[in-house]
Amino acid sequence: MCGIVGYIGPKATLDVLIGGLRRLEYRGYDSAGVSVIGEDGRLETRKKAGKLANLVAEIEQHPLPASHIGIGHTRWATHGAATDGNAHPHLGGGDSKLALIHNGIIENFAELKAELLAAGTQFASETDTEVAAHLIAAAYEKSGNLEQAFASVVRRLHGAFTILIVHQDHPDVVLAARRNAPLVVGLGDGENFLGSDVAAFVEHTKRAISVGQDQIVTLRRGSVEIRTFDGAEVVPDEFTVDWDASAASRGGWSSFMAKEIADQPTAVADTLMGRLASDGSVQLSEIDGLSHDAIKSLQRIYIVACGTASYAGDIAKYAIEKWSRIPVQVELAHEFRYREPVLNEHTLVVAISQSGETADTLTATRYAAEQGAPVLAICNTQGATLARESDAVIYTHAGPEVAVASTKALTAQITAGYLLGLFLASVRGATPAAELRTIGLDLLKMPGRVAEVIKSSKNVEALGMAMSDAKSVLFLGRNVGFPVAMEGALKLKELAYIHAEGFAAGELKHGPIALIEEGQPVIVIVPSPRDADSLHPKVISNIQEIRARGAKVIAIAEEGDTQVAAYAEHVVHVPQSVSVLAAILTVIPLQVFALSLATALGRDVDQPRNLAKSVTVE
Ligand code: G6P
Repeated sequence: MCGIVGYIGPKATLDVLIGGLRRLEYRGYDSAGVSVIGEDGRLETRKKAGKLANLVAEIEQHPLPASHIGIGHTRWATHGAATDGNAHPHLGGGDSKLALIHNGIIENFAELKAELLAAGTQFASETDTEVAAHLIAAAYEKSGNLEQAFASVVRRLHGAFTILIVHQDHPDVVLAARRNAPLVVGLGDGENFLGSDVAAFVEHTKRAISVGQDQIVTLRRGSVEIRTFDGAEVVPDEFTVDWDASAASRGGWSSFMAKEIADQPTAVADTLMGRLASDGSVQLSEIDGLSHDAIKSLQRIYIVACGTASYAGDIAKYAIEKWSRIPVQVELAHEFRYREPVLNEHTLVVAISQSGETADTLTATRYAAEQGAPVLAICNTQGATLARESDAVIYTHAGPEVAVASTKALTAQITAGYLLGLFLASVRGATPAAELRTIGLDLLKMPGRVAEVIKSSKNVEALGMAMSDAKSVLFLGRNVGFPVAMEGALKLKELAYIHAEGFAAGELKHGPIALIEEGQPVIVIVPSPRDADSLHPKVISNIQEIRARGAKVIAIAEEGDTQVAAYAEHVVHVPQSVSVLAAILTVIPLQVFALSLATALGRDVDQPRNLAKSVTVE
């Protein structure tokens, strides 16, 4: 939600800024802008509504001077429509010598704006952000000390913000502040970087610092100083980025989403790596912070997440509860937080988030920590706020996910959920160790099976393309197939903008079956028929109920399931697996289906309308 990049150093600043914005564009893409201080000492700004390409075209028409310091922004609008005027950077002071970019929401902006209006300040935009630019410029005019002026103003701001400024009188420094919104520093040799996440600078450096809450960064060519809002020095928390820069580029693929779907065998394999021994036993040393005694005394687990990550949580619930016998409840983070759930040291809160910056999820985990509940993060981004603030982290190793609609991060999250389930079950001794090892061995085979599903997805692609005139698509599933169905529907809504719903197949007869009419496409996730207590016959009955009312059924079924063909127009087969693990496989055809249907409709699959990938406001 808004991408931020800053640079100081010998490179061509505009190239660094535009390259960074390109990799951050997933965070917001309704306008973009840059400010640089040119070699002639003048501050210059270009900004444009629409995608980054519009800004690039604007700069081609009105070139910027060579420069060695600058800031750039890609916006997801909150206050004020997506117009050129509301795009960042915003300029401050009567002389417009200060440029500022912001990610987040300044909650007390109305009161601050009234103060500035009373003092005669002229506003050029409808944003909350512009007040900060004018306040800092005014404080600087009074004190003549830019750092002091900056610190005094950020202390007055309420809400969530990462703010970066440059000032024409100080061409040797970029200042940044962070509260409740992400900020990382990239450390170079004679150059330094700022970004909303490491993708902003990973092609230039892998050395990074994660900036903490309520901290200010003073970035110069040869130094990075970090202080708290109150001026206390902070010892930086440096880490090495393990993402490969090429992973954040599209390569020869038609879209980032297509590439990220294809990346899934690696994402699953990397998430398993080092965590499952060759005999199938699980090792999760990263959650050593939670002692075995603490795990044994757990009474309940809450999984909190939003969007696609919440479906990973729903899938994890089936596995964790089944194997460890700990009651698990999955809740949308924003609902969880404000119903004030009863938590204590015996309730483990597991937060799942690709970005680790989703404001709703962070608010929920902060509440949990206040109540004394241990917090375990499943997170894909090193140095993310969620990871920093949690008691333990299981990193998913999906690599950078750029397409807004999550794919490889999801299958990596599901994988991490299974690992957690196996681990908790083995510590609690709730399932015989030999049985857990058999499941672990099956999990080890998942990367190869994921690769098979992807390889054979041509027929799903064709189905998606052929169904581009569908007004609505329904998805049905039971057990782990239920969250898979909901994820399939979400993908279609996000990408194709058509009506789609996921239902528990057993719930159909209690209402949703009224939606079925002649020709209604329904995608059904069919469970394995091999288990003794298989839900297969029940799902086949559900299929018959909808077919009798005219539904056109596409079944996602296990290889070797020969019965299902008689009940479906199309069957998509996925390899056999332990039934709870099948979610990793059955979700992939639904990703491919949504991608191809949306592509046939001419949608921008990487940057769907109205969405942003990392939602840093509540
Ligand atoms: C946004 C994105 C979704 C994502 C959700 C949670 O809504 O559009 O794709 O699933 O946020 O994001 P997180 O980074 O917390 O996994």
